[in-house]
Amino acid sequence: MNSLVPSGSTMSSSTKPHVLAIPFPAQGHIMPLMQLSHRLIRRGFLVTFVNTEHIHERLMAAEQPGKPSSQDFAGEIKLVSIPDGCANGSDRKKFGTFSNIMLKEMPGPLENLILDTNIRDAQKITCVIADVHMFWALEVAEKLNITRVAFWPASAATFSVVASIPQLLEKRVIDSNGFLIEKRPVHLSDTMPAMDPAWFVWLNVGQENEKESFQFLLLCLQSIRSDHILCNSFPEIEFPAINLIKNVMPIGPLLSDMHLQPSKLWTEDTSCLDWLDRQPARSVIYVSFGSLTLLNQRQLLELAHGLELTGRPFLWVSRPDLMDGSPAVYPDGFAGTLAAGRGCVVEWAPQQEVLSHPSIACFLTHCGWNSTMEGLYHGLPLLCWSCFADQHLNEYFIVEVWKVGLRVSKGKDGIVRKEEMKDMLEKLLKDERIRMRAMEMKVRARKNVMEGGDSWKNFTTFVDLIS
Ligand code: UDX
Repeated sequence: MNSLVPSGSTMSSSTKPHVLAIPFPAQGHIMPLMQLSHRLIRRGFLVTFVNTEHIHERLMAAEQPGKPSSQDFAGEIKLVSIPDGCANGSDRKKFGTFSNIMLKEMPGPLENLILDTNIRDAQKITCVIADVHMFWALEVAEKLNITRVAFWPASAATFSVVASIPQLLEKRVIDSNGFLIEKRPVHLSDTMPAMDPAWFVWLNVGQENEKESFQFLLLCLQSIRSDHILCNSFPEIEFPAINLIKNVMPIGPLLSDMHLQPSKLWTEDTSCLDWLDRQPARSVIYVSFGSLTLLNQRQLLELAHGLELTGRPFLWVSRPDLMDGSPAVYPDGFAGTLAAGRGCVVEWAPQQEVLSHPSIACFLTHCGWNSTMEGLYHGLPLLCWSCFADQHLNEYFIVEVWKVGLRVSKGKDGIVRKEEMKDMLEKLLKDERIRMRAMEMKVRARKNVMEGGDSWKNFTTFVDLIS
C-alpha cells in the first residue's frame, strides 16, 4: 500500500469526520470525486482518497512542482493506493474485464485499509463514497457498518438508463445480455425525451465488451441501495432524469481545476495559456477528446487539415496516447502552421483555465460528461464529436435538448471529413442563438453551485447527513 500524507498540517484533525473516497480508475472518474473531496475538506472533513497503485503512480508522476496541489489541504487529504489485481496491463482497457478483476481482487485490500486506518487514526472512517462502478466498496462499508454513499460521475440521463435496466428487460427492449430486441426510441418517463436505444452506454464500449459490460452494470445497480446517492449534474438541465432515480442528490457541476492536483494523469502544459493570451478575444477553437478516445491516422490528418481550413487559431490537445496504434504523423506543412503561431498543440492542457480564457470561441469536444459540464459552466458553444460510451447521449442533450451546440457527421467509414469540420465550426460560430443559450447556461450552472443554489443546498444537506 502506498501512502502520501502531506506534511505541515496546522489544523487539528482529531475532531473532523473522516470520509474514504474511491473512484473508478480513469481520469473522468477521478477528477469529479477529487473535486467532491476538496469540497468536503472545505466543510471540515478529513478524506482518505484511494486510487489503484497503477493510477497513484501516474498521478504522482504528473504532479507539477510549485503548483497548488494537495499540499493546500495538508493533513486533510490522505492519498493512498491498493493494487487493482490486474496482471495483464491490456485488461485495463476493457471496461467489463477490468471491472470484474477489481471486483474480485480489491475488496480484501480495501477492508484491510479501512481496518488499519481505523486502528491508527484518531478519527475513524465513518463514511465511504464510492463510484457506482466500484459498488463492491460499498459492500465492504456495509460489512464494517460504515455509511455508504454511491457517486455517479456521468449524466443523470445515463444513470437513469442504467437504473432502468430491470424495466428495459421486463418490457423486452433488451435481452438478458443487454442487446436490443426493439430499436424504437425509448421513453423512460413522460417527461424524459425519447432516446435512441443504440446510445445505451453498454452498447458503445466496443463489440467484444458489450455483454460483459452490461452484466457488470447490472451488478453496479446494487449501489442504488446505498444510504445516499450523489451525481455530478444540476436539476435545471436534467430534472426528468434526476426524478427517475430515487434519492439521488445532484451536486454539480464538479469542475476540474489547477488546484485539484494530484488528479491529473498527464502533466498540464501551461505554455498554451501564454499562447492564448496572444490571440484575439473569442477567436480560438479549443479541441479535446478527453482522456480515452483514440484516433486513427486518417482521422488525425482530416482533423489537422480541418483546423487549418477554418483559418482560425486553434488549441488542440493531442495526448501522447491519442493514436490507436502507430505514432501521430501530422500533415506536411502542419509544423509550419504551428510555428507561424496559427495553432498550438499540447499533450495535456489545464482545461479549466483554457475554457475560461477570453480568447476561446468554442469547444470541439468528444462530449465526455466532465467536458460537457465544464463547457456549460464556461458558457461555450460546443461542437460535438461523440465517440463512445455515454458520449452519444450527452451529445443528444447538448444539441437537441439544451441546444447549445451542433454535431459533426461521420462518413460511412466513421471518419469526419475536413470540410464537414470546417462547415460545422463556421455554422456554430455564426449562430447567435446558440451563443446566447450557452451564456444563459453558464449563469444557471454557476447559480447552482453558489450559496443558495440547488446543487449547493443538496451538498449542504448531504454534509449534514454524513457529519
Ligand atoms: C470518461 C468517458 O470517456 C466519458 O464519456 C465519461 O462521461 C466520463 O469518463 P473522458 O473521456 O476522459 O471520461 O472525458 P471527460 O469526462 O470529459 O473527462 C476528461 C477530464 O479531463 C475533464 O475534466 C477535463 O477537464 C480533463 N482534461 C482533458 C484536462 O484537464 N486537460 C486536457 O487536456 C483534457
